Amino acid sequence: MKLYINGQRRIGTRDRMIYGHFIEHFHRQIYGGVYDPGNPLSDTDGFRKDVLEAMRKIRVPILRWPGGCFVSSYHWKDAVGENRTPFFDKAWRVEDPNSFGTDEYIKLCRKIGCEPYICTNAGTGTAEEMSDWVEYCNLECEGQYAKWRIANGSPKPYKVKYWSVGNENYGFWEIGAKSAKEWGRLAAESSKMIKHVDPETELSAAALTDLNWNINLLSESAQFLDWISIHEYWDGIHQTNDYADYEAVMAYTNQTERSIAEVRGLLTAMRLEKRIKIAFDEWNLRGWYHPNVHTIKQGRTKEDYLYPRDKNDDNSKYTMADAVFTACFLNALNRNCDIVGMANFAPIVNTRGCIFTHRDGIVLRSTYHVFDLYVNYLGDVVLDSWCGDMERMQVQNKAGDMEETDSLDIVATSFGRRDGYAVAVVNKSAEKSRKLELSFETEVSGAVRMYYISGDSTESYNDIGREDIAVKCEELGEYIPGMEITLRPHMVGVIQVG
Ligand code: AHR
Repeated sequence: MKLYINGQRRIGTRDRMIYGHFIEHFHRQIYGGVYDPGNPLSDTDGFRKDVLEAMRKIRVPILRWPGGCFVSSYHWKDAVGENRTPFFDKAWRVEDPNSFGTDEYIKLCRKIGCEPYICTNAGTGTAEEMSDWVEYCNLECEGQYAKWRIANGSPKPYKVKYWSVGNENYGFWEIGAKSAKEWGRLAAESSKMIKHVDPETELSAAALTDLNWNINLLSESAQFLDWISIHEYWDGIHQTNDYADYEAVMAYTNQTERSIAEVRGLLTAMRLEKRIKIAFDEWNLRGWYHPNVHTIKQGRTKEDYLYPRDKNDDNSKYTMADAVFTACFLNALNRNCDIVGMANFAPIVNTRGCIFTHRDGIVLRSTYHVFDLYVNYLGDVVLDSWCGDMERMQVQNKAGDMEETDSLDIVATSFGRRDGYAVAVVNKSAEKSRKLELSFETEVSGAVRMYYISGDSTESYNDIGREDIAVKCEELGEYIPGMEITLRPHMVGVIQVG
């Protein structure tokens, strides 16, 4: 197959925030995850040093917190200051000690060097409670909340730029769910009050691909919004934990751009596409396993709804299928970098995350290495490229039907600050190696090297004491027009030229 790369035709410069992450007060993401006071591996503030290091290595640009469903009955004031009030989290039906709150979260963001992104409670919360939170974080000293922050030991404002009004308030499962009409008004009044506190904030609001919901939201609050927030989990196994197999996951790669296209169309129709960007601020191939907690027939015992969450910790389930899909979705984000400015892998630590923690260390799951490849080896300028002789392959989707899909998923880039090119290539085939020729429309020279992960099989995975998957580098010599590069089966790679 031959890939034509047009270095002169730029799709755009991707915002590094498309490699963002999300962490929620759910299971072991916070407590026993990144925040583990008393563990010898934690620092004096209680944060796991090994987790911080892993987050720094993939240069987490932005970290969304505290939820997710959790946030829709969360009251931030209970989790700042000396007296922390444990509360019963009605979303996940567990007690939260509130020992990790806004001040600890900001400290975490400073330690990893990322932007904070706070999602507010638009379920049981009010416009006032949301904007009080912004006062606490962003005002110098005006008013009671900024003074409270100072009294809590932080004299300087946190300058939290990114805020979201609500989380999935459209869903029956969400505490304090809203109708489309209710949502338009609440989002407008909340975002107005937040902007009155700090006009420098950038605001998103919970949305989806539903026209009625989005038209109500945008017609009421577009004047205050900078982003529109959407979420997607393609293998929706929240109730069943019945993983889609490799072939079915390859069928899911046909759907990586569908939601983006639908929301882009609406923004364009409302003439908002130049002013409001998409924040894909929760995404993962796999839905989180938490049965009997969102259903109307709630689980009655902890065996029904709580203990099964531990099954998210089975590292053998995070294979090359997850890595290949994750790379295909990151390619989709790069291809749509003109309208998608942020995306947040859900979550980063434990549950379906890319970093798994245990008492004595961490496991870097297959998806972690995809972020390593894209953040540290791919360029930031997305170029026009096409493959005229793309081989197609037949795969069986989860419903048992046959689908056709491209065998390769490719994004070509250059570097805003240096010469050279970098091409993200995903070989989705479970068995077949593929040969790819890179053709540039201008003269290109320089060394060719490929950074990649593939594992020995589609079922390869990492676990405690087991490392099937790690980034490898293959030196391919000087670039010669017409040179062909062999792509291993089930492989995610970044080919650098020059
Ligand atoms: O399954 C986890 C949940 O997925 C998040 O809390 C919520 O935002 C989404 O529905």
